[in-house]
This record gives sequence, C-alpha cells and structure tokens, in this order.
Amino acid sequence: MTARFISFEGGEGGGKSTQIARLADWLRGRGKSVLTTREPGGSPGAEEIRTLFVTGAADRWDGVTEALLVSAARRDHVMKTIRPALAAGTWVLCDRFADSTLAYQGYGRGLSLEMLKTLQALATDGLTPDLTLWFDVPVTIGLHRAAARRGTEARFESLDTGFHERLAQGYATLAAAEPARFRRIDAAAPLAAVEAAVIDTVAARFPDLG
Ligand SMILES: Nc1ncnc2c1ncn2[C@@H]1O[C@H](COP(=O)(O)OP(=O)(O)O)[C@@H](O)[C@H]1O
Ligand SMILES: [Mg+2]
Repeated sequence: MTARFISFEGGEGGGKSTQIARLADWLRGRGKSVLTTREPGGSPGAEEIRTLFVTGAADRWDGVTEALLVSAARRDHVMKTIRPALAAGTWVLCDRFADSTLAYQGYGRGLSLEMLKTLQALATDGLTPDLTLWFDVPVTIGLHRAAARRGTEARFESLDTGFHERLAQGYATLAAAEPARFRRIDAAAPLAAVEAAVIDTVAARFPDLG
C-alpha cells in the first residue's frame, strides 16, 4: 500500500513525542519504512527556524511573525523532507503540522483563521495528512507533565492558562470540522493505554496495513 502521512497534534504534555516513537516501532514491525519528524523543524533550514521559534521570552515574536516563521519552516520541511519521503514509499509521522498553526496562532493568539489557512495552503504545498491523531488532555494535566520535562524549549508552556484553554477548544473545533481526518486520542490515560489507542486507531484507519 502507499505510504501514509500521519500528524500528531494537541497541546503541551499530551504525549505526542512519546507516542510517535512507539507508533514508528509498531509500523516498522509491520515491514514499513518510517520517518519520524517534527515541526517546526524536520529539515536543516527548518531546524534553524525552530530555534528562533521555541526559545526566548514568551512575547519574543508577535503572532503574525510567529505564523510566518513556522510557515516558512513548514514549507521547507514539506519540500525537502516530507514529500521526498512519501514519494520513496516511506511513512511519515510528524510531531505537529499545519493544525498547530491554526490552534496556536489562530485560536490561541487570536489571529485570523482565514489568513492562517491561506498561509497554510502555501506552506504545505497542498499536502494534507491522511490521518491526524489529536492528543486530547486536560490543560492542567498536560502542563504538569510538560513542566516535569521542561528544557530550554518552553516558550509556549510559560503562556497563561487561558491561552492553553483556548488552544484545547481550538483543537476540538478543528477536529469536529474534519471528522474524516481527525481521530481523538484520550491522552489523559496511562502511557500503555494511550499507546494501545494510537495503534488501534491507525490499524482501523488503514485496514490494509497487514
Ligand atoms: N500517558 C501518559 N501518562 C503519564 N505521563 C506521560 C504520558 N504521556 C507522556 N507522559 C510524560 O509527559 C511528559 C510530556 O510528554 P511528551 O511526549 O513530551 O508530550 P508532548 O510531546 O505532547 O508535549 C513526558 O515526560 C512524558 O514521559
Ligand atoms: Mg513534544
């Protein structure tokens, strides 16, 4: 079967980065070639932009600059990494993609969703994930987990709870608008249960996986 493109979405601390590696292992066990990648980043140029994006003070960039930075990084990632991988028959698992821009800069920061969608058409070159796993976790639990892991890339975690609540609501709205693409994962569950839910969801979505 053709290689698929799966994005992992949701707020901080839902377990996206933890589970992406586990799903990759599971798919490799089924004989698939798999690339795990992340946004912003995933190509040399985009990783340089990532450093600008995720470090420093919470108000380092205004919302529009943020949207432009991450969209430039996404364009590079799609053209240099994701499209070539899919063309070579490699499954691509991506830790955040265009929905993160709608959620963070749109619902979180309050930028125009229409403007952001126009920008995403350019950034993604029209590429849409075959499946988007939405890691839905209550804000307090997610931030608590993220705090335990905190490194230098904590610029968004330091934003107020209202931002994170708007973000969570934004993901719910995005998922409801595109039920064919989104699947909700109950990310408040224990690690092993989340892993099982991810695998069940992927197996159900792609029944010819083997
Ligand atoms: N289901 C879970 N239950 C408890 N802790 C978890 C769970 N999933 C992830 N964690 C822990 O929470 C922290 C954040 O997980 P991470 O995968 O980095 O989330 P994300 O990438 O969605 O921000 C990590 O320390 C991770 O080990
Ligand atoms: Mg992560």
